[in-house]
Order: sequence, then C-alpha cells, then structure tokens
Amino acid sequence: MKKTKTMSLRGVRQSGRRGNLMKLSGDRRALRARDDSRSPSAHLRFLTQNFVMNTYNRLPLVLTKGKGAYVWDADGKKYLDFFSGLAVNNLGHCHPKIVAAIRKQASELLHVSNVFHIPTQSMLAEELVRHSFGDKVFFCNSGAEANEGAIKLARKYSYKKFGMGRHEVITMKNSFHGRTLAMITATGQEKYQKGFDPLMPGFQYAVFGDLESIKNTITEKTCAILIEPIQGEGGVKMAPPEYFQALRKLCDEKDILLIFDEVQTGVGRTGKLFAYEYLGIEPDIMTLAKGLASGVPIGALVATDKIAQAFEPGDHASTFGGNPLSTATALATLKTIYQDDLLENAQKMGKYLCDQVRKLSQKLPSMILEVRNRGLMIAIELSIDAKQVALKAIEMGLLINAVQEKTLRILPPLTVTKKQVDEFIGKLAKSIRESKQSS
Ligand SMILES: Cc1ncc(COP(=O)(O)O)c(C=O)c1O
Repeated sequence: MKKTKTMSLRGVRQSGRRGNLMKLSGDRRALRARDDSRSPSAHLRFLTQNFVMNTYNRLPLVLTKGKGAYVWDADGKKYLDFFSGLAVNNLGHCHPKIVAAIRKQASELLHVSNVFHIPTQSMLAEELVRHSFGDKVFFCNSGAEANEGAIKLARKYSYKKFGMGRHEVITMKNSFHGRTLAMITATGQEKYQKGFDPLMPGFQYAVFGDLESIKNTITEKTCAILIEPIQGEGGVKMAPPEYFQALRKLCDEKDILLIFDEVQTGVGRTGKLFAYEYLGIEPDIMTLAKGLASGVPIGALVATDKIAQAFEPGDHASTFGGNPLSTATALATLKTIYQDDLLENAQKMGKYLCDQVRKLSQKLPSMILEVRNRGLMIAIELSIDAKQVALKAIEMGLLINAVQEKTLRILPPLTVTKKQVDEFIGKLAKSIRESKQSS
C-alpha cells in the first residue's frame, strides 16, 4: 500500500517535471532560435535576458574570472577593474589570503544557527570594536539590512527612553541606503521610490551639507539622523568636517542619535578603516557591508553600549547573519588590510591617481572639469556624457562606473599599484578622446 502510494506520488512528480521540462525545452527551442550568436558571452547574456528578472541596466559584459585588479570575460578578454563590484572587491579579486580563509572555513563549518555561539562571529565583533568607536555589533547580510537594523535600534532606544511617538528619522536628499521598502523610503531620491507606494512612514529629508536644513527638519518626533559620510551613489559628494562636528553637537543637544551609513565608505575604501575617522567625531551607530567580507555577503551594525542595550533577545535576528563563512572571510579581510598596509596604500594611490587625472585634465581641459577623492573613493566630473565614456572604456579594457550623468566613480582595489594607475590613466584618456569624437 505504502509502496504504491510512494510510486504514484513519484509518478505524478515525474510527469509534472517532464511536463515542465517539455514546456521549458519548447520555450528554449523558440528562444534559442533567436540566440544566433555562438560566443559564450552572447549565450550567457541571452540566458540572463530570458530567465533573470529585468531589474538591472546591465553592461554588455559577462565576467567569469578575476585576479587582483583584473577580470576576464567569458570570451577571454582582460579588463582593468576600477569598478570593484561597486566597492565590494576592496582586496581585488581572489586575493590568496581570502581564498585560503574561505577554503579553510568551508572545509570546517559553513553554517550554524545564531542559537549557538559562532567563534568567527565573536572574533570579528571584537575586531570591529577594537578598531572603531563601537562596543557591540549585530551581523546581517547586506547594506540595506544593516540600515534597517540601525533604524530599528534607534527607534527601540528612543521608545525605551522617551516612550511612543519619537520615532522619526531624518535622511538626506540625494542619499542612498538600499532597496528594501524602508530603505527606498530612507533614500532621498524619488527615482527609487516611484511605483512602490505607500512608502514607510517616519522619514523626513534634509539637504546634505546644510545644517540649517537639518535644524529646520527636526521635530519633537525625531529620534535619529541617518547620513553617509560621503554620498556615494549620489556622486561621491562630500561635506567638510566642521559640518559633521556641528551635526554631532546638534544631535547631542537634542538627544538625537547620529547614524553613519558606512556601507560604501567603510573597510578602508577612503584610506582610513572608517570614513568618520576623518571628521573628528564619532557616530552612535554605524552600518557596514560591501567590502567587509571581500565579496561574501555580510552586513554589520556597530553601536555604542548605551545604544546597543536597547536591543533585547528576540528584538532582532537574521538566519545567515554572522555565519561562520562570512565572518571568517571578514576576519581575513581586516587582517589583510592591516598586515599589507592597505590603508596607507589607499591614501598614497588615491593621491597619485588624482594628481595624474589633474595632469591629464591639462591636456583635455574642456573635458575633465574636476577630480575629488577621499582615498580610493574617487569622482571625476566631465563635461561630456559619463556613460558614453564608461562604455568606451570597456572597449579599451577598463571597467569604471558612470554614477551620474557627467560623473565617473572610480573605485580601484586598495591593493592597486602605481603601474595599474598609469594603465588606467592611458585608457581613460583614450576613452574620453574617442567619446568626444563620436559625440
Ligand atoms: C551607502 C550605501 N548604503 C546602503 C547600500 C545598500 O547596500 P546593499 O545593496 O548591500 O543592500 C549601498 C549600496 O550601494 C550604499 O552605497
């Protein structure tokens, strides 16, 4: 009896699967008829176009291999990668120390629940606390999730101290904080919010770099200010240390928490481990992700003890957050940054790159308008279309990001050498010249 039931269930499953396969292969045959190219890249692009949800404006490249500052596409073409996974590959690709740490951890223990103690998680928390203003860390999987955690923590702190109703968060116009519903609300750019109404209640917006604007936005309901120390997605926009110092003072006076989103600026990108170190102040909460585990997904929320105490068991959790693989990789990332003096290298190479771009701008005076940086977080303002230049750069074997209409964002790995910067300058010059000619 049991056997018959099992067999018939299997039969149903198999015929269902066969049906699906027939449907898929029928569709595939039809689609394949349109996939006339024989290059591996073209076929993989075809699979993306037909089977992956259409949420990204992808560049026409299929990257399959990386080493240091270089990547190769599926057709074997080599590129100098100054895109760095948008500030994720801070140690370049397949750094031997990172590969070794991943191999070791994968062969010992990949995942256990947070119901248990996780040795690498505990050690990573200690390491982050040792190198920052913070006392306690919560781990999650992405930047958006870290920011969500920060908002929850700020609200809980405020609730415990002041009671209900003091829950609003001020964020900046032109900011970027992630793509969950709460984080598109926090992100002060309508283009990320359109079509997803109703947005989350409890967010107000001020102008980045303008203290008066923040003062005018604060009400008795404000519990926190969430701000990037450098607006990354907004075009590598900076504000002077005096602004942040005045903001810190304002927050202290009004008992409002100051949250720094260091998802992009953190982990050495700016030439210090965290960008707040340039500002002469410390936030109450800081969020990290991107470069923390060199490409293995991770997010973290760092807070002072006073604030972190607002969270009690059951208040916040994440199945994968702080798991052995991601935290072992993050430990290896931090160790490598210190052992290999990569913060110093980021400062030196950031300066060298910008000096070289300034020299180039003398040869291309009407095309390069400005270069600005903090370490290896670099923006180049052009008078011509940045996307056009980034596309031309691909032809030259260089990957760079057009972050705004006329702004290039340059994010070399922290391991970058002088020779690679020189190679970049040559390729950038050609890309700009040829874009100008074809525009
Ligand atoms: C400053 C900042 N915050 C948050 C995020 C969102 O991070 P994630 O994509 O890991 O959710 C990003 C991503 O670009 C970012 O640059």
